[in-house]
Amino acid sequence: MRNFKRKIADLLSAILQIDENEIYNNINLTKEESMGDYSFPCFSLAKTLKKSPIVISQELKEKIRTPDYIEKIESVSGYLNFYLDKEEVTRTVFSEFEEKKDDYGRSNIGNNKTILVEYSSPNIAKPFHIGHLRTTVIGHALYNIYKFLGYNTIGINHLGDYGTQFGKLIEAYKLWGNEYNIDDNPIDELTKMYIRINNLCEEDEKVLDRCRENFKLLEEKEEYCTRLWEKFRDLSLKEFQRTYDLLGIKFDSIKGEAFYTDKIDEVVDILKKNNKLVQSEGAMVVDLKEDGIDTPCIVKKSDGSSIYATRDLAAIIYRSRVYDYDKSIYVTGYEQDFHFNQVFKVAKYLGLDDKYINGLEHVSYGMYSLKEGKMSTRKGNFIKLEDILNESISKAKQIIKEKNPDLSEIDEISKKVGVGAVVFSDLYNSRIKDEVFDLDEMLSFQGETCPYIQYMYVRINSILSKSSENVLLKDINYSKLSDEQSYSIVKLLYNFTDIIEQSAIKNEPYILSRYLIDLAKSYSAFYNKNKVLSDNPDERHSRLYLINMVGTVLRKGLEILGIQMPSKM
Ligand code: ARG
Repeated sequence: MRNFKRKIADLLSAILQIDENEIYNNINLTKEESMGDYSFPCFSLAKTLKKSPIVISQELKEKIRTPDYIEKIESVSGYLNFYLDKEEVTRTVFSEFEEKKDDYGRSNIGNNKTILVEYSSPNIAKPFHIGHLRTTVIGHALYNIYKFLGYNTIGINHLGDYGTQFGKLIEAYKLWGNEYNIDDNPIDELTKMYIRINNLCEEDEKVLDRCRENFKLLEEKEEYCTRLWEKFRDLSLKEFQRTYDLLGIKFDSIKGEAFYTDKIDEVVDILKKNNKLVQSEGAMVVDLKEDGIDTPCIVKKSDGSSIYATRDLAAIIYRSRVYDYDKSIYVTGYEQDFHFNQVFKVAKYLGLDDKYINGLEHVSYGMYSLKEGKMSTRKGNFIKLEDILNESISKAKQIIKEKNPDLSEIDEISKKVGVGAVVFSDLYNSRIKDEVFDLDEMLSFQGETCPYIQYMYVRINSILSKSSENVLLKDINYSKLSDEQSYSIVKLLYNFTDIIEQSAIKNEPYILSRYLIDLAKSYSAFYNKNKVLSDNPDERHSRLYLINMVGTVLRKGLEILGIQMPSKM
């Protein structure tokens, strides 16, 4: 039934004697009503057929016997435009929804494929600040998108729980541990200690040496240092968990960089065996000139310790064995583009199956800046993500209270609206764009925001609850849905799976976010023109069913983005 695009491709393929997949990939979903629903450009055929695209499209039009799911075909300046039969599309959407309900749009293209989505990965003992918002939110959305497409999806939090900064923190704790209450307020206190010890290190070289010594002891798994490190880690995780709870995020695996430290030797051995390791100024490095990168990748420093990149290499080996992945994506800011470029190049020399190397992908995103300027942990000017979310929740509460003073469950609703606003705005533009963080804009009920979508949903719900009718598919009169506003909703609903697939192909959740805004706007236009609870039963039933579908897709779509839908607001 479904997939008219596929059917059109088959039709053209039979006439042109060209592979139907090639044709399929060339058929475009049109944006403008005046170009029909699908458009096939004939330009690439001109060379092989030795005819102009205009002539080709005209000839094609004459040769095709228009099937009944197509209303008309037009040849316009080298394009062949297909207008689907509206009623046929509407029927398809309705019957598919009737069959799948809450699973409408779900697909199985990912079946039997495993994808790892590594995201969030904050650094222990450092604030979980709004810089981490993007990886957390984009990664979580991608995780849900792949799941919805049937992939076996594994969400991984690759904690930054290793590095020389722990040598410093241990020193700070030895010096002033009793002055700070890290049990009750771990991150704030550890951050203060970190800033203080850094200042001291700048003044006194000897302190810095002691910090280095601590780190060495930690690497050798000395008991006192290890115990302290564990304490910092556990306390930090507990605090991070509060933010994850607010965002409704769970991971399938939380493993820190430290987990990979005893797996470094294998990386070194393999690279050695493959003649890829060279000595450079006492360190062991992989030369990447042949791979077009001038800077060699350090694998072991001169003091024998590993670096960030080495632990990523060890993680690739580990994950290939444990998960046998088909794809493994890393969601981080673009300031790590070079790092991943290097790591993925070195990974080619680890002797792994090609599939594991080809499956690696860095999904990078632009920077978030505050209206007030740049953030820095060292200087202490950062904003914790948890605080931002809580502020957004309380602002949402004020706004909702003003609009609807008697609302019960206000706390739960404000949480959904407040958190949703922040998450959605993060997902609303192409991820590579730099963004300025503006809470008031995010919380607006008008414009392209999450509260706007949530509000439309709530209005749909209130109409549905006014009518106690249980509309069945057989009650639908499709001719009642042929007006422009109704049909534009049907078309959007028809495209839902396509939209999710495109979001996955490009790793761009914004494709889904923008779609949901389009759907909410179309609903609003529809509602302004059509009375849902019409006295004419045919109209009423058809419209009730239609808006129920809109509500379901809006709710499901936001859920995939990691946002909860309130039932009232
Ligand atoms: N902890 C790092 C940071 O906060 C991000 C880790 C990214 N993942 C990775 N496999 N290197 O910058």
